[in-house]
Amino acid sequence: MREKKPFYITTPIYYPSAKLHIGHAYCTTIADAIARYHRLAGDDVFFLTGSDEHGLKIQQKAEEAGIQPIEYTDKIVASFQALWKRLDISNDDFIRTTQKRHERVVQEIFRRIYAKGDIYKGEYKGLYCTPCESYWTEHQLDENGCCPDCHRPVQEVAEEAYFFKMSKYQDRILKYIEDHPDFIQPASRRNEMINFIKQGLDDLCISRTSFNWGIPVPTDPKHVIYVWFDALTNYLTPIGFLDDPEKFQKYWPADLHLVGKEIVRFHTIIWPCILMALDLPLPKKVYGHGWLIVDGDKMSKSKGNVVDPNLLIDEFGADAIRYFLLREINLGQDGNFSRDALISRINSDLANDLGNLLHRTLNMTLKFQDGVLTAPQGESEVDRSLKVDAMATVQAFATGMEDMKLSDTIKTVWAFIGRANKYIDETAPWALAKDPAKKQELANVMYNLAESLRLISVLISPFMPQTSERIWNQLGLTDAGKAWSDVQLEDAETWGGVPAGLHVGKPEQLFPRIEVEKDEAPVANAKAAKKQKQAKQEPKTKKEEHLPEGIITIDDFAKVQLCVAEVLACEPVENADKLLKLTLSVGSDAPQRTVLSGIAQFYQPAELVGKHLVLVKNLKPRKMRGQLSEGMILAASDGKALKVVEVGMPAGTEVR
Ligand code: ME8
Ligand code: MG
Repeated sequence: MREKKPFYITTPIYYPSAKLHIGHAYCTTIADAIARYHRLAGDDVFFLTGSDEHGLKIQQKAEEAGIQPIEYTDKIVASFQALWKRLDISNDDFIRTTQKRHERVVQEIFRRIYAKGDIYKGEYKGLYCTPCESYWTEHQLDENGCCPDCHRPVQEVAEEAYFFKMSKYQDRILKYIEDHPDFIQPASRRNEMINFIKQGLDDLCISRTSFNWGIPVPTDPKHVIYVWFDALTNYLTPIGFLDDPEKFQKYWPADLHLVGKEIVRFHTIIWPCILMALDLPLPKKVYGHGWLIVDGDKMSKSKGNVVDPNLLIDEFGADAIRYFLLREINLGQDGNFSRDALISRINSDLANDLGNLLHRTLNMTLKFQDGVLTAPQGESEVDRSLKVDAMATVQAFATGMEDMKLSDTIKTVWAFIGRANKYIDETAPWALAKDPAKKQELANVMYNLAESLRLISVLISPFMPQTSERIWNQLGLTDAGKAWSDVQLEDAETWGGVPAGLHVGKPEQLFPRIEVEKDEAPVANAKAAKKQKQAKQEPKTKKEEHLPEGIITIDDFAKVQLCVAEVLACEPVENADKLLKLTLSVGSDAPQRTVLSGIAQFYQPAELVGKHLVLVKNLKPRKMRGQLSEGMILAASDGKALKVVEVGMPAGTEVR
């Protein structure tokens, strides 16, 4: 059994300079899924998030609004807290840098480092980027003389200031990073940091006198402490740095600082130097995640493509958003958010794969066994293979989560959901129910399905807590005496946790299918939708051509999007002898498609797997036999024979 341990995980503390967008929600959702996994595995988790409220940028925002900085931040921070609640973020504390408990910590740290001689007073002359709250030297600026991070103009500042002797720690931090390959992840960010340090570390200016929205230097209150020095120390405040040595001993060093890629430098250079000056151990890991891009573009207020997570939660619910963010994007890389992809995930993975499995299982248990699951006896080859897959999935889940491979772990769990759906087709309970001699066999199948769903409920709990609980309750497990909130990973590690005699509940739909209107190309947000509408209403300037009947223009043809699709899986469709259900890949970063095709009389399902076919990609999805078909594959047919069109090109390649 895995050893249980304290686990301290943090997100960045966010600037209350504007409303949070889906990119912030992304970072916090990842941290939440990891925190929930560790609690599930029995660890003693402390999960921290918060707000970074000081600095010139915030002071200017408050001035623009004509209110005091604290009034300004109170309001925005309340909106952060409300959002985290709606997204089911399970943080154990919320730190605000304006809290007294934090001010005490920052001032004490300043005092200690000053007493040690690593803080000294001097004069700062140089360049400052206010949006980034970052100091730069001339040679660090970009080719336009602007901030190398955000490319906005920098300001010259000259003032008396306190400095932190970072240069003193240059060799130690470099050696530490080189000796601890796991400290900075992913590896690409680690190399960037090594190169940065090798260019030389200057002492860091850590106080300002030209504005006052900050924590005063304890012995010289006309200075306020630099916002990053203040912000980074937030990680020490809530775990008892000053007031609870036992708690501090337990949680420090942090196991994981999860941060966006642009602030890895602060967390892996400045922060470790501060900690070294305090003689404190360094965090075990800093992970720099990528950015969420919207429809291919970086989110920004001026582009008007900022996606508001609250609106998405209103529309689709928290779990669907969480699922999308965690499943769609590989943690270290930038990833694209699009409404189109979100809806497609909801329909295929949640409504279809997961929703149907639960619905079919509960329905058939109610129909064939009055809703009661009885003890299984004996097992068939198919039963055995299902159990082996289930246990392998639980194993892979634990390993994947320990390695922070969130998207891969979700894929593994969904492969098992697919496996369980296939088990229904293989065992055909509706046929067993017709044969009185197959009563026990049927009972075994229904039990195994419920048990599979019990495991699935546990495994999705870090990603989709509400859905996990709903499945648990619908299976009747809460009524049978085990509260969802008490569930541990151990409960999924052995097969057979569904008690014999369990009464299952009525199936309730987990995720309604989202119907996309015919001409409505899915768009990222309300503003884009409006633009699209306007475009539609604009009169056509081109003259309409008159064409002979049956003749189309190149523009007509261009409306049809064709691409290469690889058949990943293929199976017959229940009660439809002409149809095959194909699971298609249209490229590794695109969601898989399900297509129903009337070719069952010409191909065995296994023959098609691995073939590269041509798919009509933008056909309006339609329901056939209760299942959604998302596109159409091309085939040549003379009415008697039929052959699918095959091409030797990779999945996703455009055909035109
Ligand atoms: O940097 N995609 O705060 P912040 C993914 N206060 N992540 C994104 C994102 C996007 N589109 N946009 C922003 C700060 N983020 C400091 C942190 S910690 C001691 C102090 C992430 O509000 C970004 O990468 O500007 C960062 O990790 C976090 O949001 C906070 O950004
Ligand atoms: Mg930022």
